[in-house]
Amino acid sequence: MNYKTFRPLIYKLTPEQAHHTTITMLQLAGWFPPATAIVRAMYRAKNQGPEVTCMGIKFPNPVGMAAGYDKDGLGWRGLAALGFGHIEVGTVTPKAQPGNPKPRVFRLVEDEAVINRMGFPNKGADFLANRIKNARGHGFVLGVNIGKNKVTPNEKALDDYLQLTRKFFPLSDYLAINVSSPNTPGLRELQTRKALEELLEPLSAEVSAACEATGRSVPLVVKLAPDLSDDELDGALEAVMHTGIDGVIISNTTINRPPLESNLANEIGGLSGKPLKDLNTEMIRKVIARTGGKLPVIASGGIITPEDAQEKIDAGAALVQVYTGLIYTGPELVQQILNFGLKYNK
Ligand SMILES: Cc1cc2nc3c(=O)[nH]c(=O)nc-3n(C[C@H](O)[C@H](O)[C@H](O)COP(=O)(O)O)c2cc1C
Repeated sequence: MNYKTFRPLIYKLTPEQAHHTTITMLQLAGWFPPATAIVRAMYRAKNQGPEVTCMGIKFPNPVGMAAGYDKDGLGWRGLAALGFGHIEVGTVTPKAQPGNPKPRVFRLVEDEAVINRMGFPNKGADFLANRIKNARGHGFVLGVNIGKNKVTPNEKALDDYLQLTRKFFPLSDYLAINVSSPNTPGLRELQTRKALEELLEPLSAEVSAACEATGRSVPLVVKLAPDLSDDELDGALEAVMHTGIDGVIISNTTINRPPLESNLANEIGGLSGKPLKDLNTEMIRKVIARTGGKLPVIASGGIITPEDAQEKIDAGAALVQVYTGLIYTGPELVQQILNFGLKYNK
């Protein structure tokens, strides 16, 4: 059934109710192998691929599930059946935490956008580790997005990230360091060149040692905010390059407010979806220009249609991720992008 047919019903639920409902449906779809097979057949794209090798990993196709959707690793089997080439679970913090008071997610339907101020609600590292302990090797690349607990001061943030790196190194194909959520007070201050170097150097050393000890390579990527000034972006990229980080996710949500139609536009939080698209593409172009294209870029920001995904590839991204697009276009977005046939080096 076409998503647009039952979208009005989903929109009768609050965004969080709708989210829990879809995660439950994905869980159900993942639990029973016949149901998984039906979902896989329904959403199977005629075009598989293109396969992309990035950071030493083979991605079966360029389209990924962005972080924050499956924070606790509940729906990865169902998401894989929708055709995602990679799935980024989390953001996970060392200890479980409730996040900000509800309501904290807002649908800006007229703008095809969302504002969220979730604040990393999640069931903690042990829970996620248990949920994804057998998830690798199921035909998609598994990323784990890690963040610090709200109660951890920035001076102690490294302890949280180190703990999570150790825990999820064996369970993931890549690790994403989140220093760009606008909803954890002070988190974005970790993006200055100095703070990033102090954080990334020990994390990079930890991962290198683990790679050497195990013979497995697990790339580290950093997710940046789209609200950095040009100088701040330069500083952050220098830190990323100096510390041997393997790639960047451009970007998280924005705290800026381009002109918006919806009366929810002034809600506090990070804006995602269509109004983020151009700002995000511009940032990707800057990162490619400043790094001479040497640093792999994963695009996350405002991909609602296949053409939006192609725009990110044309700007120099190696891979794309979607989140808000699923709310407006539906789960068939992955299939649509794959059938569109993304082209590199046009
Ligand atoms: C409700 C919601 C929760 C999110 N939670 C997280 C999160 O926990 N960690 C993270 O790195 N990004 C999170 N994001 C940001 C998305 O991963 C993505 O980077 C951003 O929404 C831009 O992509 P989009 O325009 O395709 O949604 C969240 C986004 C939304 C809408």
